[in-house]
Amino acid sequence: MRIAVFDTHSYDRHSFDEANQAFGHDLKYFESRLSLETVALARGFEGVCVFVNDQLNRPTLEALKAGGVRLVALRCAGFNNVDVAAAEELDLPVVRVPAYSPYAVAEHTVALLMALNRKIYRAYARVREGNFSLSGLVGFDVHGKTVGVIGTGKIGQVFARIMKGFGCEVLAYDKFPNQDLADEIGLRYVSLDELYERCDILSLHVPLADDSLHMIDKAAVARMKRGVILLNTSRGGLIETAALIEGLKTGKIGGAGLDVYEHEAGVFFEDFSNRVIQDDELARLLTFPNVVITGHQAFLTDTALHNIAETTLGNISTIEAGEIPPTCVTRTLALPPRT
Ligand code: NAI
Repeated sequence: MRIAVFDTHSYDRHSFDEANQAFGHDLKYFESRLSLETVALARGFEGVCVFVNDQLNRPTLEALKAGGVRLVALRCAGFNNVDVAAAEELDLPVVRVPAYSPYAVAEHTVALLMALNRKIYRAYARVREGNFSLSGLVGFDVHGKTVGVIGTGKIGQVFARIMKGFGCEVLAYDKFPNQDLADEIGLRYVSLDELYERCDILSLHVPLADDSLHMIDKAAVARMKRGVILLNTSRGGLIETAALIEGLKTGKIGGAGLDVYEHEAGVFFEDFSNRVIQDDELARLLTFPNVVITGHQAFLTDTALHNIAETTLGNISTIEAGEIPPTCVTRTLALPPRT
């Protein structure tokens, strides 16, 4: 199938070209993100392959459909950037990659926690300057701390297991608690109130949806234990940035490790080192000594990239063969005919 692949970088092209040897799709890579402004690039293609910050709202989906596109293949797990109802009305199947390596994301969450706690980023910069002073580098033992995991799906449960390995007490909250998992790992489901009240470390692993948008707001921060370390490798919109900044300023939040940011689209995945960042909340977050931000790279391991490429291209082949893969997020019966 002829596919326009949006928002690509060298690492995407490498993994897709390698995996495509087994599938033989006709892939055309674009650096631009897909939006209403760039949708004309997809004209004449049968499918589009998109990532987390491409915007597939109703007008963009309508323009895709009008241009002959018959399939949307997300090369990520979350699909909060797609108007699924509009895609269904337009008879456009949307497929995704529900799991490619929960380990990649969970391990990056631990990396953020440890970098933040042991001030690795400060120590690294200091030692390179020939400064071997230890002032300001005091961390804490993670062993024995209480860790709260919000969302015990694929990634949350890997993170919970790692934290158990550190010797932590693990508390969890999920809309659909999994008692078998709790018994196996040795974690305990509690109410959000208890989680906020008791946890020294809080990590978010729920998808972004209407019911989770800004779940960490001013009221939630107020209920948290003073000095809590907040980790978010899920989606930026889970945290109301103003509430996070306020919590950091008052010391209620003792540190934040973020791989995602509410308004990351248009900034993350780009080089802004010679430009002025216009987003004042992001700029403020970057000034805190106790905030570590990475630019949505938790998924970025060789294993994950390989699995993403293989599943995405496999999804496209399955749909092309007239079947609907279980990774389809739309209620789709078949690939629509060519227009
Ligand atoms: P999953 O679907 O396996 O698990 C999500 C869990 O959250 C489920 O147990 C579900 O019941 C629970 N949940 C959903 N809404 C909830 C709510 N409002 N309150 C409480 N619990 C709720 O998803 P998985 O694979 O663990 O991924 C989690 C998220 O991680 C994805 O949705 C995605 O946004 C993010 N992600 C981030 C990546 C990165 O590179 N930073 C890479 C991959 C995923």
